Amino acid sequence: MRVPDHPKLPIRRLQAHGHYNARMHAWTRHAIATLEAEAARSADTHLIRLDLPAFPGIPLYFKDESVHPTGSLKHRLGRSLFLYAICNGWLDEDRPVIEASSGSTAISEAYFARLLNLPFIAVMPRRTSKQKIAQIEFFGGMCHLIDGTDVYGAAQQLARERDGHYMDQFTYAERATDWRGNNNIAESIFRQMQREADPVPRWIVVSAGTGGTSATLGRYIRYGCAQRGETKLAVVDPENSVFLDYYDSGDASLTLERGSRIEGIGRPRVEPSFLPRVIDRMLRVPDADSMAALRVLEKLLGRRCGGSTGTNFVGALQLMAGMKAAGETGPVVTLICDGGERYAGTYYNDAWLEAEHLDVVAARTRLTRLANSGEA
Ligand SMILES: Cc1ncc(COP(=O)(O)O)c(C=O)c1O
Repeated sequence: MRVPDHPKLPIRRLQAHGHYNARMHAWTRHAIATLEAEAARSADTHLIRLDLPAFPGIPLYFKDESVHPTGSLKHRLGRSLFLYAICNGWLDEDRPVIEASSGSTAISEAYFARLLNLPFIAVMPRRTSKQKIAQIEFFGGMCHLIDGTDVYGAAQQLARERDGHYMDQFTYAERATDWRGNNNIAESIFRQMQREADPVPRWIVVSAGTGGTSATLGRYIRYGCAQRGETKLAVVDPENSVFLDYYDSGDASLTLERGSRIEGIGRPRVEPSFLPRVIDRMLRVPDADSMAALRVLEKLLGRRCGGSTGTNFVGALQLMAGMKAAGETGPVVTLICDGGERYAGTYYNDAWLEAEHLDVVAARTRLTRLANSGEA
């Protein structure tokens, strides 16, 4: 007999079915053991150091999150969201998992759903790159593409229709991650910095999609500041995103019609996981600058990165120029969120840039000058 799912029946009635404890707990044990084994097979991601001659005493570090098995920082979140949902009793054998995503999270969740033999459906904007769609399907997931920006409503509706569980990364990202440690991204960065001549980052620079990464970093920075010293958190925001305006105004009702062109970051509404009070500074980065930054970075690192890494790099350079002008030194840390191979048809395609009216040439000249001179 199939046991009815949460949230339709209260737990008391579920337990009256008799099967609830024994069968569901057996599945829960198996699911957690499967995820823990996957974590045990994983290695930490590299922290790559880049010394730019124009910034003496201000080394730049990239935490390379592109090397996870599912290619982005969302691998960590995928594991955390599944564990959180399992431990809350929200998942069960055969119960479909539905998620609203701009792609990267869905790839990681499709991977974890397959590990657990759960059906997975990603609800995404139609403009999501073909490579991301192919990867979700490679991991056995299905894609439900929609026009407009209401991926949340569409995912909720689909979950209702299929008796599935809407994972809702935009609500749960900030609380699904263990913020005090458990090798979260913040703990990993600070541990990897320990043997550097100057081990305390002055700035950590990230971008926000759910806001989960900035929440984890911001909390961890505050939690450890007494023994470690002062690190500040900067968040960069692309065009077509409300996060920066919300940060300035406190108006949580802000919305936009159009979604961000930088996949994974910038949102048309204030996401519940975005926590402004743990952020020390926000910077707006024009999309053309993010695109130009990818090209400058390709020369410096010898590899292609995804769009949000370009946005991060612009923010890091601006802060480094500010430090240099103020006579300050110290490390700056940012993230390689994912690799460039997912964006061959968009960010690395001249026809796409032209169609989007992104003047990368002028922006590239400006950024190259900044990286080479250290002056904004
Ligand atoms: C490529 C990429 N970079 C950055 C982010 C931002 O991370 P967060 O959702 O933790 O704010 C995302 C989120 O989906 C992403 O996909």
